Amino acid sequence: MAGFCSLPNSCHNKITVGRSEQLLSEAITKIKGWNEDAHLKAFQADLSSVESIIKFSTSLRQWLLDSDLHCSVQILINNAGILATSPRVTTEGYDKMIATNYIGPFVMTKLLLPLLESSPVSSKIVNVTSFTHRAVTNMQVDEGTVSGKRFLKSKQYPYAQIYEYSKLCLLLFSYELHRQLCQMGKSHQIFVNVADPGVVQTNIMREVPASLSWVAFFVLKRLRLLKSFESGNDSIIDAALTPPGTSGVYFFGGKGRTINSSALSQDTKLAHELWETTSDLLSVTPFGNKRNNF
Ligand SMILES: NC(=O)c1ccc[n+]([C@@H]2O[C@H](COP(=O)([O-])OP(=O)(O)OC[C@H]3O[C@@H](n4cnc5c(N)ncnc54)[C@H](OP(=O)(O)O)[C@@H]3O)[C@@H](O)[C@H]2O)c1
Repeated sequence: MAGFCSLPNSCHNKITVGRSEQLLSEAITKIKGWNEDAHLKAFQADLSSVESIIKFSTSLRQWLLDSDLHCSVQILINNAGILATSPRVTTEGYDKMIATNYIGPFVMTKLLLPLLESSPVSSKIVNVTSFTHRAVTNMQVDEGTVSGKRFLKSKQYPYAQIYEYSKLCLLLFSYELHRQLCQMGKSHQIFVNVADPGVVQTNIMREVPASLSWVAFFVLKRLRLLKSFESGNDSIIDAALTPPGTSGVYFFGGKGRTINSSALSQDTKLAHELWETTSDLLSVTPFGNKRNNF
């Protein structure tokens, strides 16, 4: 399950967004097994593709209208993320890891903002980041880096650094959005928070050689740093269910715990620069046509 949002009406509808039809249907079956009354809808979308996210947001609006549902979103969770060990280019020409981990959530959030704003109760955005953002001590913000095109040219694909960079970008974006909502007087309406699941043995290491990921998880387990699958979700649930009023905060560790993210992630000038650069990047399609959405 890649993205998830809940829509307010008499009965809450849960929307799952993922790239694989089969995995979406398995997720729906699983959730129905836990709660057969759950109202669920799945949309197929590739969250590394700007065009795919634009199509999804159009389909979502259409579905809400056709289903006679309130045209709003109450909670948006940008969870999809990858650790790609080799360079891959998206249809828009961006580095796939940066596109999935940062550009995708940026696009999804910007497109769904009007729906989040329409929610009759305050709405929430949760961006799933990682403690690894702390490894970045200085960052470049220009179109080549933000799109990842610069990394695609490097001889050796620096995958760990790109992952860390993308997660820091997501943090800077989240805090900048929070500040902008405050300036627009909308901070009582939409809350933006980040969640760090900690180290969890999921499929995130699927591209890393099995022997290496096995050793990494073994050591982390011995050090008691490895979290169970269930407790990995705690910070995300905390951020999604936090009482109205909490925004621009980093959730980590469960039980509502919040901590400070790195000093660099709180650099307001850098965040503004990143926002502008990303908006500029997205304002033109790969075919040179203007886009107005961003
Ligand atoms: N595991 C950790 O230790 C850890 C630590 C810190 C942060 N995180 C973050 O937690 C989030 C969830 O990761 P995870 O650990 O649960 O890894 P995971 O098991 O690999 O799950 C990643 C999810 O992202 C989806 N996804 C990837 N690319 C996509 C795309 N282009 N379009 C749509 N969906 C896409 C995957 O869909 P498919 O099912 O189709 O593959 C999968 O559902 C990520 O943002 C990750 O960076 C994880």
